[in-house]
Amino acid sequence: MAAVSALRSGKTSIIKAKFHSSTGFSSVLACGMIELSIPGEEAGNKMRDTLQITIKPVEEAQLDILEQAFDPDSLSKYHYKRFEVQKSGAGVYLIAWHNYTPVGHFLLYWSGPYDAQVTRYLDITSRAFLQAGATKSEFQRRGVATALIQEAERLAAEKRCTHIGLEVGSTDNPGAKRLYEKLGYVDWGRGEFEIQWEHIDKHGNKRIFSEMVTYMQKSL
Ligand SMILES: CC(C)(COP(=O)(O)OP(=O)(O)OC[C@H]1O[C@@H](n2cnc3c(N)ncnc32)[C@H](O)[C@@H]1OP(=O)(O)O)[C@@H](O)C(=O)NCCC(=O)NCCS
Repeated sequence: MAAVSALRSGKTSIIKAKFHSSTGFSSVLACGMIELSIPGEEAGNKMRDTLQITIKPVEEAQLDILEQAFDPDSLSKYHYKRFEVQKSGAGVYLIAWHNYTPVGHFLLYWSGPYDAQVTRYLDITSRAFLQAGATKSEFQRRGVATALIQEAERLAAEKRCTHIGLEVGSTDNPGAKRLYEKLGYVDWGRGEFEIQWEHIDKHGNKRIFSEMVTYMQKSL
């Protein structure tokens, strides 16, 4: 887990976060922007290069790059929709960049989720909610999602959220579940429920997808 120390001067918040050896060292240079070096790891006999990433809120001019990088075969405009969330003030769409390449993303809402199955049991007013997380396949297992989530947690705590939560496939996504457990998220213990979303393929065909998920949460 990261040991975090923060210095504040005027409007700029400088944070230095020292991660344990598997995740490296990061420093936030300005509010909402984090630079991270993840040390190389043994991959077979070959030492992988240090992965340097920068995490910052999305900018409108980057949306087409993100559509092309993450969802080239879809007309759903997922990244535009997430930018609208950020623009409305309901959250922030965090992008991890390696040099000029976007390598991962997570959408952080200041409250949520609004699924009836969750709001029936939890007051989500001061609970942050993580959604739409992904790391490009060639950059997976190098700490990108970990760094994104830790930055989201820092921002949510700054917003005085008491908890942060997310929904994850209850049986079909053990890798993601492992990631969240490793970061201290625990299953809420009230069972699984179904979520649905619309996907538009590159030909304009719409399809509804569904997944059984469980809610996981963590105190901030
Ligand atoms: C889940 C996902 C976001 C993880 O991103 P990532 O950048 O590879 O995650 P990290 O490198 O920070 O992983 C940290 C730890 O989480 C666990 N983990 C992550 N992915 C895993 C996998 N596929 N299988 C098993 N454990 C995994 C491991 O413990 C890992 O540490 P290790 O590599 O030292 O063993 C990525 O696999 C992804 O984009 N998947 C497809 C989309 C998706 O499922 N999103 C989540 C929706 S809820």
